[in-house]
Amino acid sequence: MTVPDEPQAASSFRAIGEGAGWVREPLDDAVRGPRQLIVPPAAATLGTPAHSGAKAAQQAAKEQPGTVFMMGDNPALPKMPDRPTLEDFFRLRFDDFSVSHMLQSARLARQKGLDEKVVLACLLHDIAVPGLLRSDHGYWGAQLVGPYVDEEVAWAIEKHEALRYFADESVGYSYPKEYIAFFGEDYDPPEYIHREHEAARKHRWYMTSRLITLNDMYSFDPDARVDFEEFADVVGRHFRQPEEGLGFDGSPVAHMWRTMIWPNNFL
Ligand SMILES: [Fe+2]
Ligand SMILES: [Fe+2]
Repeated sequence: MTVPDEPQAASSFRAIGEGAGWVREPLDDAVRGPRQLIVPPAAATLGTPAHSGAKAAQQAAKEQPGTVFMMGDNPALPKMPDRPTLEDFFRLRFDDFSVSHMLQSARLARQKGLDEKVVLACLLHDIAVPGLLRSDHGYWGAQLVGPYVDEEVAWAIEKHEALRYFADESVGYSYPKEYIAFFGEDYDPPEYIHREHEAARKHRWYMTSRLITLNDMYSFDPDARVDFEEFADVVGRHFRQPEEGLGFDGSPVAHMWRTMIWPNNFL
């Protein structure tokens, strides 16, 4: 595989290796001189032609001396503060669609006068999706926020993964009709999801997690405007923001926050 020499005018990025990796050309705004290669993580490319990314990128690096793998700040992303807060991740890393979805869920919970713990759980319920991983997002999200929230909040976020597939008519929750479009008519979640649902239903915190699904907006309102600021009070009271910043507090999940700060690091 060869990599053409001319940088593209429209973008500082060029795809390489079936779109598996990306070359960032050294423009004026680059913090480092050499061409930088971005190789997407395996979890994002397994099962697709892009999975050959690492190999293609290494080959390209060999062919063009002076090309290095992306490490540290990617100039295409806003720079994070040295001590990032939860709000910094919402503002500087997560996409507008996901942020709006979580904020709308939290607003709905608040409008219903639900406990602040539930409002926080709704605010954070899909946090893994825009920053980390979609697959098993409830589990990833729960782990990510675990050290900083009440145990009940993390539990509820984890269990919403399973509960959203199962109706509970006693509280007015039906199987989301959007899921028929998302997953097909006959989709049946895997066995572990069935087991998780059954266990969660018997748990004393069941309703906390069920309330996440009840306030989960499967139809998103694209015109809704909700600012993170609206929940600054709830976050201040119920999210234990570490003084050193998320990613730098030495917690067992600090690396997960660092991965969202520097998602393109080669290693
Ligand atoms: Fe979710
Ligand atoms: Fe959601």
